[in-house]
Amino acid sequence: MSVLNAWLIYNYSLDTPKFSTLHKWYVSTALKKNINLRLCTNIEVYSLISESRPMIKSDISGGKPDFVLFLDKDVVLARQLELLGYRVYNSSKVIEICDNKIYTHQILSTYGLNMPDTIYSPLSFFSSSDLEDDFLRDVEMTLSYPIVVKEAFGSFGKQVYLAHNREELFSIRRSIGIKPHIYQEFIKSSFGRDVRIYVVGDEIVASTLRVSDGDFRANATVGGKMKVYEPAYEFKEMAVEAAMRIGADFAGVDILFGDDEKPVFCEINSNAHIINVYNTTGIDVSEYIFEHILRDIEHA
Ligand SMILES: Nc1ncnc2c1ncn2[C@@H]1O[C@H](COP(=O)(O)OP(=O)(O)O)[C@@H](O)[C@H]1O
Ligand SMILES: [Mg+2]
Repeated sequence: MSVLNAWLIYNYSLDTPKFSTLHKWYVSTALKKNINLRLCTNIEVYSLISESRPMIKSDISGGKPDFVLFLDKDVVLARQLELLGYRVYNSSKVIEICDNKIYTHQILSTYGLNMPDTIYSPLSFFSSSDLEDDFLRDVEMTLSYPIVVKEAFGSFGKQVYLAHNREELFSIRRSIGIKPHIYQEFIKSSFGRDVRIYVVGDEIVASTLRVSDGDFRANATVGGKMKVYEPAYEFKEMAVEAAMRIGADFAGVDILFGDDEKPVFCEINSNAHIINVYNTTGIDVSEYIFEHILRDIEHA
């Protein structure tokens, strides 16, 4: 079997030990699959126009890779690579949809996935307190307290807030400023717990329950613990449908527990962390990701 060459693109400003451990993990799995995976940041490879054509600048030797594992959210670079004929996983479109919680909900709501009532923030260029206060009064009439507020771009639970009353809602709104965000029905039956399902291709490869003591958010970064878990069929069905509708090659889907333990869609991640799931379940999601990519390339 011939050796394939691939790039793993990650963000240059996130060069922390946590991410370098993750990237080395991918490199060592790739090696087992006969893939020579080169690590490159989005500043070592960047986009430009030259002589009226889209180009990339890179110092990486060896010519065009067989594929690019794109673990960054630099949609512009992902799209530029696609424009130049590179095979990019996940695609720029998927990364763009997953990165923005407004897009995710807007697209998936057209397929009837069960999801919390959600209000998108109107686009704003400057804060205008009076108009915003009127709008927030409308929000609190539509969704009753507590109300979940999420920034459209956020991860690790860090940009997800819970407003218990008007004072908190107004204060969260002020601190978010003009950044796009959503207001959402709080699924109280899911307080501090959710299901994280890893989908690769159209298959579920791992599932976990995440449980947090004392925080409504189940993310590990805010204290959630991952447990081995076998979700009910409807949860699995929802995870695969969400990934498929968006067109993800691989994804981590977060699902809440609604009334009667029915699944309620929360969000989909185009670059879910894989080490914590390995530590919990012994399942190496990166193996499945490379196998999927190899199959995809073979059938192209
Ligand atoms: N509408 C909601 N009702 C109840 N809990 C929620 C709701 N939305 C999010 N959560 C909790 O907050 C966590 C973080 O929200 P999520 O949308 O996944 O953002 P992030 O991208 O930061 O992980 C979820 O894993 C879940 O535990
Ligand atoms: Mg999440």
